[in-house]
Amino acid sequence: MTETNVGDHVAIFDTTLRDGEQAPGFSMAVEGKLAVARALQALNVDIVEAGFAAASEGDFNAVQAVARSIAGPTICSLARLNEKDLDAAARAIEPAARKRIHTFIGTSPTHRDAKLKLSKEEILERVARLVPVACSRADDVEFSPEDAIRTERDYLLEVCRTAIDAGATTINIPDTVGYSTPEEMTDLFRFLTSSCPAHVVFSVHCHDDLGMAVANSLAAVRGGARQIECAVNGIGERAGNCSLEEAVMALRTRKDLFGVETQIDTTKIYAASIALSRVTHQPIPRNKAIVGKNAFAHEAGIHQHGVLADRRTYEIMDAESVGMPSNSIVLGKHSGKHALAARARALGFNAGPEKIEEVFPEFKRLADTCREVTDADVVKLMTGRGSDDGRSGPWRTRRIELRTDIEDEVRPYARVTMKHDDGTRETVQCEGGGPIDAAFAAVCAIAGVAGRIVSLDLRHDADGEDTRVDAEATVEVASRQYTGKARETDVADAAVAAFVAAVNQAAVSEAALDENAPRRAAADSESVA
Ligand code: KIV
Ligand code: ZN
Repeated sequence: MTETNVGDHVAIFDTTLRDGEQAPGFSMAVEGKLAVARALQALNVDIVEAGFAAASEGDFNAVQAVARSIAGPTICSLARLNEKDLDAAARAIEPAARKRIHTFIGTSPTHRDAKLKLSKEEILERVARLVPVACSRADDVEFSPEDAIRTERDYLLEVCRTAIDAGATTINIPDTVGYSTPEEMTDLFRFLTSSCPAHVVFSVHCHDDLGMAVANSLAAVRGGARQIECAVNGIGERAGNCSLEEAVMALRTRKDLFGVETQIDTTKIYAASIALSRVTHQPIPRNKAIVGKNAFAHEAGIHQHGVLADRRTYEIMDAESVGMPSNSIVLGKHSGKHALAARARALGFNAGPEKIEEVFPEFKRLADTCREVTDADVVKLMTGRGSDDGRSGPWRTRRIELRTDIEDEVRPYARVTMKHDDGTRETVQCEGGGPIDAAFAAVCAIAGVAGRIVSLDLRHDADGEDTRVDAEATVEVASRQYTGKARETDVADAAVAAFVAAVNQAAVSEAALDENAPRRAAADSESVA
């Protein structure tokens, strides 16, 4: 037995661009991969597995592009244990300052017999012959016995020792099929780390088929693993990989238990999660740990009261520590007077107990009919002015003309005419990335509102011949969000009508808030003091 090297640094090996990207719905083109790679660089991950260079020309180019433009982390490519793959990986990572080849071969009975048709001895021979080839083409080599968890323990150790003797300095133990449990992982890593030389870093790579990828990875750390392979938002083959944000925040929040550190800048976690979601067009589930919209949101009255008094009553982490703006008190049917008063005061209103008593029944009625009570709703409660979904706002659409001319390469534009309640009419023509985008710019220009589209959801509702489109648009004005809804027969009409509804709300609410601006400024300076 050798004394094992179990320092307190846990390396974060990010496989979002490789294992994550292999999953259906998450494939990324080179530009998208570069955007995510920049977010990983900002996170300060130790290693970026940028792809599987031999898999396709596109993957080769993506690995090479990441190797050329991302400084800081080691850049890695996956390769099967054969000459052709190792050569592609080595060429793709060539431009990187620090290069790693991650090579693997299946070792479990099922992989040996059904997939590779190789005997135990043949696999050992391949490891001994080809790992040195990988070592001659990269700064360091990581070796994975694929399906390690279902490999016989004595044989697994023999394969690991052969790879180490051949030059691999990181041995990754994959739970390829997400089959293991935390107790088993701790035990296996204790066994392997205590049976191999001290300079070797043991790594863990877990899949989430039974929902235990994060728990298993943390258990491996307790057994001596000092590298976690993980992916942003937990993406990866089938149910996914260990989620980077969950593993990192668990190690940080429970340092008392694990006693180890990563070098991740946790304040960049949220940005990385959003970047991935944008590139892959996959939303982050609302209840996702660490990065979901609900992760730091509170709607229940008892929780809101507690958090307003001291956030530690219901939070173990700061929203700011993962880069979210702040914890959010969501006003809904479970909210109480404390939360309503706090929000009204934040908006600059004089929200004394009498006023809150007066408006609270209306607040509850409103909360019962919608999912979330917005800032615009609070303005209406406090002032009596405002709009319900924008239907009673000052602006009405009179004409919409949208144009996209692909042949003439004219930039898409929209020409919108709107009428104000005071009788004035205005027509504005704007260009945009697309015609809907241009229409939104025109609506904002007419209403004198500086807005940005946060989301636009369109849903077809077909009933026989009768087709309707339901549109819901959320726009942001001065850091506040306004949502408008519309139902029309045409997609473009529905989208524009929903924008108008949202912009109507913004126009009314922002005007009412402007009147409260001096009081709001006073409240802000008090809270700073
Ligand atoms: O899950 C797995 O076994 C892998 C290997 C290539 C490490 O992704
Ligand atoms: Zn995997």
